Amino acid sequence: MNPTNKVAKVALIGSGFVGASYAFAMLNQGAASELVIIDVNHKKAEGDAMDLNHGLSFSSNMRIWAGDYSDCKDADIVVITAGANQGPGETRLDLIEKNAAIFKSIVTAVMQSGFDGIFIVATNPVDVLTYATWKYSGLPAHRIIGSGTILDSARLRFELGSELNVDPRNVHAYIMGEHGDTELPVWSHVNIGGQPLKDYIHAHGKPSQETLNTIFTNVRDAAYHIIERKGATYYGIAMGLARLTTAVLRNENSVLSISALLEGQYGLNDVYIGVPAVISREGIKEVVELKLEQEELDKLHHSADVLKKAIHTVFP
Ligand code: LAC
Repeated sequence: MNPTNKVAKVALIGSGFVGASYAFAMLNQGAASELVIIDVNHKKAEGDAMDLNHGLSFSSNMRIWAGDYSDCKDADIVVITAGANQGPGETRLDLIEKNAAIFKSIVTAVMQSGFDGIFIVATNPVDVLTYATWKYSGLPAHRIIGSGTILDSARLRFELGSELNVDPRNVHAYIMGEHGDTELPVWSHVNIGGQPLKDYIHAHGKPSQETLNTIFTNVRDAAYHIIERKGATYYGIAMGLARLTTAVLRNENSVLSISALLEGQYGLNDVYIGVPAVISREGIKEVVELKLEQEELDKLHHSADVLKKAIHTVFP
């Protein structure tokens, strides 16, 4: 239910595995009143809209249809999931060439509709493509949000919760950096139900550093293991995107780890990278600047260097 009762319209670009799962997740979040699905394969978009509409009597009320770029004009949010996804053994950065070209045409078409809202980007490599969306759109950076490490942080919360037998919703933990191989766990700011991790370990004698290392490896490499088994990942990221969309539409001021443009925070500039940020109706309201340990800060800077090199291949 959209508490403001104002029409909250989302335009989804890309109705593949991630996009269709996102549309389904949005039905259950109930924050949007309209969802238009845009895909280069219009028949697929129509089929997804029809299929979702048939479930409306079981869920929240949302007007869903298959449309085109002109429908972006009055959208509050445009969510981009279109593009190639990782194949087995492929890194996210390997997708740059394919997806950067697609993005230029997508963002240009959205802006030509007269769109003046907020972009949420999910296509990988998400940090690079969020930067590209910012450049191609000409919109202010706070209105360009990448899914960033929202899913990685959720994976870390799940892994820690499973290890400690605690509800993941009571495990507060961030992954920061690239949504990819150079991401880093911020152990210094993990807390279990309000108890800092180091106090939890002191009181319970676990988890060991070895266990923490294994947990982080599982998080960082999760997509590879899922892709090996089912060919793609889509439910987790779709739920993260729906969570992020809802935080914007409901003006929640929630703190989520997303990809934001840094302008001096953490000593970094001119890079979109995964950081905790306050999300509101205006988009990225504020980047949360945690006091990282030196080792964590060094890893964040390394991750930023890798992303800047990748961004440079698109914007020499
Ligand atoms: C994953 C994709 C969204 O990590 O990159 O599952």
